[in-house]
Amino acid sequence: MRALTWQGTQDVQVDTLEDPGIVNPRDAIIKVTSTAICGSDLHLYDGVIPALKPGDILGHEFMGEVVETGSASTLRKGQRVVVPFTISCGGCFHCKITQFSACENSNPVEKQDASEMLYGYPMAGIFGYSHLTGGYSGGQAEYVRVPFSDVGPIVVPDHLDDDQVLFLSDILPTGWMAAENAEIQPDDTVAVWGCGPVGLFAVQSALAMGAARVIAIDHYPQRLALARKLGAETIDFRNTDVREALMEMTGGLGCDAVIDAVGMEAHGFAIDNMLDIAKQKVGVGADRASALKQAILATRPGGRVSIPGVYGGMTDKFPLGALMEKGLQIRTGQTHVQRYMADLLAKIEEGTVDTTFLISHRLPLEDAAHAYKCFKEQQDSWTKVVLKPGMTTPDAPRAG
Ligand SMILES: NC(=O)c1ccc[n+]([C@@H]2O[C@H](COP(=O)([O-])OP(=O)(O)OC[C@H]3O[C@@H](n4cnc5c(N)ncnc54)[C@H](O)[C@@H]3O)[C@@H](O)[C@H]2O)c1
Ligand SMILES: [Zn+2]
Ligand SMILES: [Zn+2]
Repeated sequence: MRALTWQGTQDVQVDTLEDPGIVNPRDAIIKVTSTAICGSDLHLYDGVIPALKPGDILGHEFMGEVVETGSASTLRKGQRVVVPFTISCGGCFHCKITQFSACENSNPVEKQDASEMLYGYPMAGIFGYSHLTGGYSGGQAEYVRVPFSDVGPIVVPDHLDDDQVLFLSDILPTGWMAAENAEIQPDDTVAVWGCGPVGLFAVQSALAMGAARVIAIDHYPQRLALARKLGAETIDFRNTDVREALMEMTGGLGCDAVIDAVGMEAHGFAIDNMLDIAKQKVGVGADRASALKQAILATRPGGRVSIPGVYGGMTDKFPLGALMEKGLQIRTGQTHVQRYMADLLAKIEEGTVDTTFLISHRLPLEDAAHAYKCFKEQQDSWTKVVLKPGMTTPDAPRAG
């Protein structure tokens, strides 16, 4: 089969590899029809997440057709399924309380040491996301082996296109959980840092949950325009002092809730970020957390901080005093995707949630290396990329 492999920092290529086969009775093999590139993949592309090996297949947002099933799979050949990026057994303590991204059984024992050393507890398995999370082959491929196929994948009806449901695999539940973690109340003013796919879905979700005002922050005009289309007010951090603007917009109080949808590769020339960029470059495990620091300072006392943005290592000069003295609450984590899929699929079916506006580019899987480069270097117009195995010519990009 053809699949996108990581070769080194900012070096990926499409290779011919062996087709995956059933390993365990609960496995299924999926023939991928659509797979997306995520902001999280950029952290792998940029080499800031450890424990990748040359030849690893990337991709954790994918869907397709079931072509083979193990004896204990509940799926049937021919079904169309969306697969959650989190690999979860369904039976451990954490899965039973729907904390699926903390599954204790999906990261094979021999792979657990790295994340246990870093975080004090092994991470769960994630498709295509380094040997920290199990070293599973990802879905930017023609075929993928899906473990625990009786727990993860959701069957989607034929009348919904791939574009309508693909993002159930990650970013739609991630935006939803980000808003849920912000514990939004009516009358709330919520600020969202980052207008990438996760930030935009967080904006959409916060409004759906009844936030009175959502203020979205980024520096890419087209991404800010998408946030405005969803109903947000926006701040361009290149030409505005963000904290000052937020204080002004909230009558000096600060935001009731903030969402950091930026993560460990914050952009910008703030002095702390410049230091973090230098430290991250030399690989001392420093996360660039300047958006999160700004968010904490802009939250009102007693407010809530939700962090869907991914962090992998350590950060310094963290405003712990502001966090404690203002009595803020923090909630974060890899998304418990399986918890949200059915409800969000119902919202897509009834037409109250739309995900298709996000897709800027659809390309053949063969063009994946080019797509990574553009998604990294032209983020403003490359909002979200969908790769299609079997497609031969790219679709025309969405007009600005
Ligand atoms: N928790 C989860 O389960 C989960 C799932 C998916 C993605 N993520 C993470 O969410 C984050 C966002 O994902 P994405 O796909 O939207 O990524 P993305 O890279 O497409 O978008 C990030 C956006 O943040 C903006 N940004 C950068 N620095 C900023 C700053 N200082 N202030 C305001 N905006 C800034 C960028 O311009 C960009 O538009 C990433 O860290 C990703 O790894 C987490
Ligand atoms: Zn993702
Ligand atoms: Zn489990």
